[in-house]
Amino acid sequence: MKTYKIAWLPGDGIGVEVLEATKIVLDKIGFKAEYTHGDIGWEFWCKEGDALPQRTMDLLKISDAAMFGAITSKPVKEAELELVPELQGKKLVYRSPIVRMRQSFDLYNCLRPTKAYIGNPLNFKDDIDIVVFRENTEDLYCGVEFNQVPEELSSLLTKISPSFAKFKDLKPEEYSISTKINTRLGCEKIITAAFDFARKHNRKKVTIVHKANVVRATDGLFLEVGKEVAKNYPEIQFDEGNIDAMTMWLLKNPERYDVLVAPNLYGDIISDLCAQMVGGLGFACSGNIGKNLAVFEPTHGSAPKYAGQYKVNPLATILAAKMMLDWLGETEMGVKLEKAVADVIAEGKVRTYDMGGNATTIDMANAVAEKL
Ligand code: NAI
Ligand code: MG
Repeated sequence: MKTYKIAWLPGDGIGVEVLEATKIVLDKIGFKAEYTHGDIGWEFWCKEGDALPQRTMDLLKISDAAMFGAITSKPVKEAELELVPELQGKKLVYRSPIVRMRQSFDLYNCLRPTKAYIGNPLNFKDDIDIVVFRENTEDLYCGVEFNQVPEELSSLLTKISPSFAKFKDLKPEEYSISTKINTRLGCEKIITAAFDFARKHNRKKVTIVHKANVVRATDGLFLEVGKEVAKNYPEIQFDEGNIDAMTMWLLKNPERYDVLVAPNLYGDIISDLCAQMVGGLGFACSGNIGKNLAVFEPTHGSAPKYAGQYKVNPLATILAAKMMLDWLGETEMGVKLEKAVADVIAEGKVRTYDMGGNATTIDMANAVAEKL
């Protein structure tokens, strides 16, 4: 087995604790890696005015994969900023380091498996095994936004879009525009990833999630491309549904769903819904996957309220490490790690607070490591 280069990005708050726990498990399983720490997050923004310093970007460029904990986002209230004296009074821009990582490295595939492990007291139902593919770089998250709409834009829209008529007399500060941009290539890449996964793992059905009946241009494109791609996978059932209806159906009959694929925003929403049905944020793992780099993380944030207490559930991050092993081609280790997690959950002896127990973050990691 080769020695992998892994970028290790704990970030803020409980991000540090869940990565520490995950390292215990990766060491025990015998994963050979050179881990290099990378600075990321709110703390670095306050110190350096950059939440994702260039040195971390350079580290990512030379890494095989990255494990990322969580960050704290910029608080909405300026008064809550804790800037070092050198940065005080300077006009600083905050850019989300996660969005930047995704966009700079074209991590177009946000993969979020949600499986109900037997014995988890938090399962909504026991027969849930849904894999969500969320497009990760386009859509409403593309960053083309106008807090105050520039005059050039409003006059152009007045000329070319009849639907804009009702806004045309508003002053720039009276409205905002966030654009939703989806490309044919972007749709093709994520939908193909979902179908390829379904084929490789003998999954029966892929469901395209959209709102094409209302958002005709962009979601229409997503659905159209979905239908085209599906033709190359005749053995897999093609299914589609509107995002609003899908939230209802998923709650009603989650066992009927298999692989879901969605544009960025709907994927974000639906993956949280799926995550909650199998135990919530303590179990929700995520991969941001591109052609040459993948960053694995728990879906949760830095949970400031629990930071420093070693109380939170590290299983989301440990399951993200399992995804990393799979992505690197260390499938045997991936299977072994998932089985260890499943065994600990099934036994029910070690449970963190979210599962109704009082085990610490490290107790949980040790329990998984003992099964390896
Ligand atoms: P959060 O996800 O950090 O935590 C919300 C609540 O979920 C916690 O208070 C806790 O009750 C529960 N929780 C989270 N992780 C858990 C775990 N591993 N085990 C058990 N329970 C867990 O969301 P919150 O508090 O809204 O955001 C805190 C900060 O994190 C904000 O600045 C937010 O913007 C940021 N954030 C960062 C993300 C990331 O780094 N990927 C994702 C989401 C939020
Ligand atoms: Mg989210």
